Amino acid sequence: MDFIKQFHSGWAYLTILMGVIFVVSTLVYAVSKKDTDNVVKKIGLITTIAFHVQLLVGLVYYIMKFSQFEGGNIMKSDILRLTFVEHPMMMIASVAFMTVANAKLKRSTIVPMSIVIFAVVSMACLLSRIPWAIWLG
Ligand code: HEM
Repeated sequence: MDFIKQFHSGWAYLTILMGVIFVVSTLVYAVSKKDTDNVVKKIGLITTIAFHVQLLVGLVYYIMKFSQFEGGNIMKSDILRLTFVEHPMMMIASVAFMTVANAKLKRSTIVPMSIVIFAVVSMACLLSRIPWAIWLG
């Protein structure tokens, strides 16, 4: 349990970092109308891998935490609702948006603005429902 918790906590830095790099680089390519090249495709691949690893570890962590949950009304408590409902749902949405952005990127010859929008929406979902107080507090 401790290793999974530490991993999920630490890998989150890489996930956020890669998400930011993806948004900035696709934005630069889209604005400068640069052709899609291997550099931006590699960034897309690494970002997607980072997101999916975090998703899988998050699912494992969720199952472990939920199996130790001693009961109570999840929806009535802000912290339980964040941990067991809002955080997982928004993170799954975030990973889905980022996966679509990368799939579009792989097929593109120049980077369209729609990829940047998908990536920004993904990061908005992600950053809005991280349990900041638990993580950094
Ligand atoms: C993919 C993006 C994700 C990111 C960036 C992320 C990030 C984080 C961070 C930073 C924490 C706080 C860690 C700490 O306690 O030090 C956390 C906690 C947690 N995450 Fe995630 N997570 C993601 C996905 C998921 C998913 C998909 C699930 C479950 C299906 C999940 C389940 C949990 C649970 C159960 C906690 C524990 C909260 C608590 O200790 O009360 N996470 N996550």
